[in-house]
Amino acid sequence: MKVDREVVRAQRVRALGDVGANPSHNVVIGAPVQKFRVLVAARACGQVADNTCEMGIYSRVILPRLVDFVLGTETVKRDRKLALADVQGRVLEIGFGSGPNLPYYGKNISELVAIDPDVAEKYATHRLALAPFPVRFEPLSGESLPLGDGEFDAVVSTFTLCTIPDVARAIAESRRVLKPGGRFFFLEHGRSADTDIALWQSRLNSIYSPLAGGCRLDRDVPALITEAGLVLEKLERYESDGPRLFSPRFRGIARKV
Ligand SMILES: C[S@@+](CC[C@H](N)C(=O)[O-])C[C@H]1O[C@@H](n2cnc3c(N)ncnc32)[C@H](O)[C@@H]1O
Repeated sequence: MKVDREVVRAQRVRALGDVGANPSHNVVIGAPVQKFRVLVAARACGQVADNTCEMGIYSRVILPRLVDFVLGTETVKRDRKLALADVQGRVLEIGFGSGPNLPYYGKNISELVAIDPDVAEKYATHRLALAPFPVRFEPLSGESLPLGDGEFDAVVSTFTLCTIPDVARAIAESRRVLKPGGRFFFLEHGRSADTDIALWQSRLNSIYSPLAGGCRLDRDVPALITEAGLVLEKLERYESDGPRLFSPRFRGIARKV
């Protein structure tokens, strides 16, 4: 599998260009915040003179540690265990990060192909060493997978659909690489069922997103999954600990029929 780093970089540039692209996100914050947002986005990716975007120290060093910390609580660990209990066979994980799911996979995994465009494999080294099944890490984006149709029994996404720039395309790609009958396992945060909270999630996206590696607060996870043609078999919606902007959770399984 050959990885085109230029393609990955172009996707990252597009991602930052897309931050706050929805005008409704700018209703309250206005132009000064727009400037701040662009500055933070440029800093986060270490933008350079030729208008390309290399990973800066924030996204390369600080952000992976921050994500590990925030998504490493006992509550989240319990959620991961529940979300991954039935994953089996040949598995693709999108947005692998530093590999926080590895301890929670069951025994019936034949191979894990782990993809992430941003996170250096070194952050996962300690977990990779303990994995009881083969893991292949590739620095790829979920929107464009150089993988054949129907190669996988399962695709896994945890706290990643919020961050992928073209999330509809990434779920469509996940569906494509699943075998007929294959399952998409997800554990995500997203849009609140409370319309007032959801409005604030949309408003704050454009400030929050550049600081959080492109994460959006208001994605309607079940709708995105079904719009991509997957059939929801199991969906649990619940509120996790912490501020209500971040607490809505979606855990479930969708099938390729
Ligand atoms: C909030 S982190 C979650 C990491 C990990 N999945 C977890 O459960 O903790 C979001 C991850 O999505 C990855 N990501 C961003 N854009 C992506 C893309 N286009 N395709 C796949 N993963 C992407 C980020 O690099 C990051 O590792």
